[in-house]
Amino acid sequence: MAGKILISGGSGLIGTRLSEMLIDQGYEVAHLSRNPDKFSHYKTFRWDIKDASIDDSAITYADYIIHLAGAGLADEKWTNERKREILRSRVDSTQLLLDSLRKTEHHVKGFISASATGIYGNSGDQLMSEESSYGEDFMAEVCKAWEGAAWQIKNLGIRTVILRTGIALSDKGGALPQIARPVKMMAGAPLGSGKQYMSWIHIDDLCRLYIRAIEDTQFEGVYNAVAPHPVTNKEFTETLAKSMHRPLVLPKVPSFALNLMLGEMSEVVLSGQRVSANKVMQTGFTFEYNYLDEALASFYKKDKN
Ligand SMILES: NC(=O)c1ccc[n+]([C@@H]2O[C@H](COP(=O)([O-])OP(=O)(O)OC[C@H]3O[C@@H](n4cnc5c(N)ncnc54)[C@H](OP(=O)(O)O)[C@@H]3O)[C@@H](O)[C@H]2O)c1
Repeated sequence: MAGKILISGGSGLIGTRLSEMLIDQGYEVAHLSRNPDKFSHYKTFRWDIKDASIDDSAITYADYIIHLAGAGLADEKWTNERKREILRSRVDSTQLLLDSLRKTEHHVKGFISASATGIYGNSGDQLMSEESSYGEDFMAEVCKAWEGAAWQIKNLGIRTVILRTGIALSDKGGALPQIARPVKMMAGAPLGSGKQYMSWIHIDDLCRLYIRAIEDTQFEGVYNAVAPHPVTNKEFTETLAKSMHRPLVLPKVPSFALNLMLGEMSEVVLSGQRVSANKVMQTGFTFEYNYLDEALASFYKKDKN
């Protein structure tokens, strides 16, 4: 059941892997980018979120839109300007897609948007379902506004799915290589109390979930995109050290040191969510990587040096 998939932010970590997996399954893939790369393997349409301009032929191309675009959370220090960029790149981009869908004759059958488990704020060890209450910190506010914009696309009669994504594990980018670097140098240690939960998902399972959300019309609304067994930061660090065959020798990195180094961005590593995968599993979706050690082994099995 192939079709044409338009991916905003398709050049990023998740978009790159998702594009490969879609192509393997017989889909046609195009990207929507601020800076089309002329050497890209994919047909690429241009948009400019700040100028609210978009090549409308991107919308007429698509059977499905996957919306991943957004300024990286850990790329720069969270100044007020950067925070505005993190928010606007998600909310205004969604609004631009909405406006283009409104005014263009199209055949889009589904809209699948990223969101993040950060919507639940710092929720301790309480298991968070899609019905749970939201947080009030910066990332929670960003996710609420982002999802609010995405919901308007549902009002156009387009099936809309939001995947509240946990920490996507990949050895090609994102959080894992950053956490793994000090562990590899034997300078890894749990962060803060180490008790904060990390709800992770292997990137291949996440991309399989995106594809499932395209193909299975029972998918509608919000789903947590996390593996079934979240772990604490301490367990994560210990499991990673074991997978990388490295000892953990240092004590915890105190919260105040992280605050000093990262400023407000430290909320990303010091706060945590223990997020439930039950709703996704009830759809019949099965994870290839249920446990963290299995997921990490897929990246570090041969890394004994
Ligand atoms: N990776 C994770 O662990 C994780 C967890 C939860 C949620 N998510 C969400 O899932 C989405 C995809 O994640 P990812 O890890 O693939 O992200 P990524 O590697 O940072 O890629 C995001 C893409 O968004 C576009 N982009 C970057 N800055 C932008 C800006 N200021 N305005 C508009 N577009 C911009 C870029 O594409 P162009 O340069 O081609 O325009 C970039 O390739 C993001 O929205 C992220 O917040 C990711």
